[in-house]
Amino acid sequence: MVNFQDIGPNNLKPGSMQRIELNGLYILIANIKGALYAVQDTCTHEDASLYQGVLEGNCVRCPLHGSRFCLTNGQAIDDPAEIDLAVYSVFTRDGRIFVSTSA
Ligand code: FES
Repeated sequence: MVNFQDIGPNNLKPGSMQRIELNGLYILIANIKGALYAVQDTCTHEDASLYQGVLEGNCVRCPLHGSRFCLTNGQAIDDPAEIDLAVYSVFTRDGRIFVSTSA
């Protein structure tokens, strides 16, 4: 059963990101053209926070070595990262953001 948690008001403007901690996980939430996406915040290459990176279209670019990850499905696009990001379910209701870390 998917269990969503209210993580607060939705203040994310299109083209912006936020980092949250939920159930011991760091999660990056990004607003791409009005749609929210949630992925693991830690790069799969080394220990870097993607929140410190840059949004490029549907992707986030890692601040450390520049790998891009697709925010819609977590796919690692460029070397040196080879492992995809975990993707989490996210939605908004009544101006608030809800995220699930369960499958
Ligand atoms: S730590 Fe992200 S690409 Fe190396």
